[in-house]
Amino acid sequence: MSENQASAEPRIVLLGPPGAGKGTQSSNIEATFGVPQVTTGDALRANKDLETDHGTPREYMDAGELVPDPVVNEIVVEALSNTEGFVLDGYPRNLAQTEYLDEMTDVDVVPLLQASEEELTRRLTGRRVCPECGATYHVEFEPPEEEGVCGECGSELTQREDDSEETVRERIRVYEESTEPVVDFYRESGELVEVNGENSPEEVWKSLREAIERNV
Ligand code: AP5
Ligand code: MG
Ligand code: ZN
Repeated sequence: MSENQASAEPRIVLLGPPGAGKGTQSSNIEATFGVPQVTTGDALRANKDLETDHGTPREYMDAGELVPDPVVNEIVVEALSNTEGFVLDGYPRNLAQTEYLDEMTDVDVVPLLQASEEELTRRLTGRRVCPECGATYHVEFEPPEEEGVCGECGSELTQREDDSEETVRERIRVYEESTEPVVDFYRESGELVEVNGENSPEEVWKSLREAIERNV
C-alpha cells in the first residue's frame, strides 16, 4: 500500500482516444480486480432517446460530440454512490468533468492507452457489437467464429452508429480538443501512467495490469 493510503479496491480512471481499447481492457480490469466497470458511453447508448433538459443523448452521440456535462455527471454520481473501487471508462472527458470527479473522490491510478490515428480508425470502422449482450468484436482483429453472429448469445452483430469514418474523425478531433487537457491534468497530479495500446489485446492487458499493480 502506498503512503497516501490507497483504498483496498482500486479506483481507476482509464483514459484513451476513441478505439484505444478502453472497453476491451476495462472488462479485464473488472474481471481481475473485482471493481465495477463504469462506461458512460454504454449508459448513454442505453438511454439514447431519453429526453433531458439538454435534448436527447442521440443528438450529440451520432455527431461525435460530447453529451452535456450535467447529464453525464449524474450517471457517474449514481454509479459511484455504492462502491469503493471502480474503473471509469470514458469519463472524465473535459476539464469541467475532471474537476467534478476530483470533488467526488480520489483516484489511485490513471492509465492512458495510446495508439496512432490510423490504428484507431481501423479498429473503429471494423468494430462489430452485439446489441443483446454487449460483446465486442472486430472483423479482422477479433472475428466471431461465425461471421456476423455473436459467439456469446447467437444474436446478429451490428455496427455502432458513430463508427462511420466521418464520425470517427470528429470523435478524434473532440478527444484532442477536450480530453487531452484531462491527460495533462493527471500527468501534473502524478497519477498518469502511459500504456502502449498498439499491441495485441493480450499484450496491452499484460502492461496495463502491471501498471495498475505497481500503483495501487
Ligand atoms: P464511448 O462509448 O466512450 O466511445 P469512445 O470513447 O469513442 O471509445 P470507444 O468505445 O469507441 O472505444 P474503446 O476505447 O472503448 O475501444 P474498444 O475496446 O471498443 O463514447 C461514445 C459517445 O458517448 C461519445 O462520443 C459522446 O457522445 C458520449 N459520451 C461518453 N462519455 C461521455 C462523457 N464523459 N462526456 C460527454 N459525452 C460522453 O475497441 C475498439 C475496437 O478495436 C473493437 O472492435 C475491439 O475489438 C478492437 N480492439 C481493442 N483492442 C485492440 C487491440 N489491442 N488490437 C486490435 N484490436 C483491438
Ligand atoms: Mg468503449
Ligand atoms: Zn451477444
